Amino acid sequence: MYVRAAAALATVTGSVVIGVLVLPTAAQAAGRHDRPVIIAHRGASAYAPENTLEAVDEADELDADWVENDVQRTKDGALVVIHDTTLSRTTNVEEVFPGRAPWNVRDFTATEIARLDAGSWKGAEFKGERIPTLHQYLERVDDNHQKLLMEIKAPELYPGIEDQILRQLRRDGWLRHEHVKRRLIVQSFSADSMRTVHERRPDIKTGFLGTPAVADLPAYAEFVDQINPSNTTISADYVEAVHALKGPHRKRLEVFTWTVNDAATAQRVAGYGVDGIITNAPDVVREAVDD
Ligand code: G3P
Ligand code: CA
Repeated sequence: MYVRAAAALATVTGSVVIGVLVLPTAAQAAGRHDRPVIIAHRGASAYAPENTLEAVDEADELDADWVENDVQRTKDGALVVIHDTTLSRTTNVEEVFPGRAPWNVRDFTATEIARLDAGSWKGAEFKGERIPTLHQYLERVDDNHQKLLMEIKAPELYPGIEDQILRQLRRDGWLRHEHVKRRLIVQSFSADSMRTVHERRPDIKTGFLGTPAVADLPAYAEFVDQINPSNTTISADYVEAVHALKGPHRKRLEVFTWTVNDAATAQRVAGYGVDGIITNAPDVVREAVDD
């Protein structure tokens, strides 16, 4: 890929092209040619309603063995999988509960949320899809033999959610050695939340969502194994700066970047040497990076 696409990629990978000769970037020279892991963002959300069990299954059908989700909490303390902190965009909550604006997830009980249609907004064929509980979601990912990049969404709204999530993970078998070692990463935009998870369970792999200044990376490396930035914020140099550090498990700090839905961007970030690409369309990214 590097030689064939060199002319197109030279400006973004930093490779130097002389005729057909391609000089590698520092990352390539260091032997980091592995293809990035592909993570289905909110499931295969280009093709199925985000964060539903259907999106998990669609990811499975596309051979995406990693899925990403977002976890929040209901009024009565149930853990549910949904991205927005309100129910309006992805459900029919405004029809079912017209007097309950602003329709915050945290203002509805689990029973109320279970009544909502979380599929029709995406397409009539998905009518009746539900917002899954974390328990249902973990079961499905397990049944499909997939792996989970779990985001704790807006933890500042849900005090104590880290401990609650860890209890649920334990109940569902996700804190067993094989899951912790190979099948689970917990991430958040909240550094405090990730510090808490790391303190409670130092064996769990964690990620910080964002692009900290290079000078601040060593502080993050104390409690996260990954720095997971938007693809729009990174460069080959930034990825190299992250890779230069070791995380709490004494392994090279990794980069999973988001949200990459087109081939050109996938090839650009793959050229930077990222370890993972988070995408709504895992088939598109796979084809781009396998090319
Ligand atoms: O996994 C990365 C990505 O999910 C972060 O942004 O808003 O989609 O949760 P968001
Ligand atoms: Ca997310």
